Amino acid sequence: MRKDRSLRQLLQGSRSNVGAAAGCDLLIWRFIRQPAHPRANLAKMPAFSTYTAGTAVSKESDRLFAQPLAQVPDFAFNEDVVRVFPDMIKRSVPGYPTIVENLGVLAAQFAQRDSVLYDLGSSLGAVTQALRRHVRTEGCRVIAVDNSAAMVERCREYLNGQDSMFQELLPVEVIEGDILALQFQPASVVALNFTLQFIAPDQRAALLSRIRQSLLPGGALILSEKLRFNDAEEHALLTDLHVAFKRANGYSELEIAQKRSAIENVMKPDSLEEHRERLLAAGFSKVVPWFQCLNFASLIALP
Ligand SMILES: C[S@@+](CC[C@H](N)C(=O)[O-])C[C@H]1O[C@@H](n2cnc3c(N)ncnc32)[C@H](O)[C@@H]1O
Repeated sequence: MRKDRSLRQLLQGSRSNVGAAAGCDLLIWRFIRQPAHPRANLAKMPAFSTYTAGTAVSKESDRLFAQPLAQVPDFAFNEDVVRVFPDMIKRSVPGYPTIVENLGVLAAQFAQRDSVLYDLGSSLGAVTQALRRHVRTEGCRVIAVDNSAAMVERCREYLNGQDSMFQELLPVEVIEGDILALQFQPASVVALNFTLQFIAPDQRAALLSRIRQSLLPGGALILSEKLRFNDAEEHALLTDLHVAFKRANGYSELEIAQKRSAIENVMKPDSLEEHRERLLAAGFSKVVPWFQCLNFASLIALP
């Protein structure tokens, strides 16, 4: 607890406040005093969650659906969601922190010299920050894209925070825009981390084809999604277990029910089989699941 408080105070302060850190605990002090070439140490910073790496972060708990709503509006990535998003996604998506951090590790294996790494549907830039923690390949740069103005604004703040804490990070550009209208540049890594499920189902194949065309030999698409299951019993079991996961993370029955009703019109999960077939039809040669926790999974698709 004491660490958290000290850290928050530090990060909320200006750079000149950093000097006042002398009294704070060793862990934080060591972190602030990163030497000029800290890159080898970046991946060894478990004390910082994805969202606290580099900036003051909203620690606001997700209470968006805690009170009974007369009418539950469709879910949108608006300012209210942005405020609580780090808490919401961690408590709702089993395996999310593991997926994000390892996405950086995997990306480092596929990154090609002088190429772009895309974070599509970047939200607050968790994946972008992981890419910047792990990828060392010469000449790479990250392009993060999201069509929520509120997300993009906060994402830029967080990335500025990451820049002020670390040196020699990959350059990053954050674009507010629709990934369906994006002119892709030659890319070695494309991350779609829980984004495709928010794209209209009839637009998904075309988007994946365009991503496939932009991918360089040796590159990869990393696609994480909530899954549905063709087998009714399997679907019911994993849905129930996901509800248990949310309960265990402090969500009430009301919150779970209202969130479900808010999101069911805007988020349409596919099955693993549908993902595989569509990726192969889009021109990918190999689809390899590398992570699954309950009804959430992540795949590597190779060009
Ligand atoms: C579940 S969030 C993604 C989480 C994020 N990738 C992460 O790992 O923290 C989905 C994001 O996709 C964005 N999004 C949805 N449709 C989009 C589109 N057509 N173009 C760009 N961004 C989109 C939303 O604004 C939202 O921020």
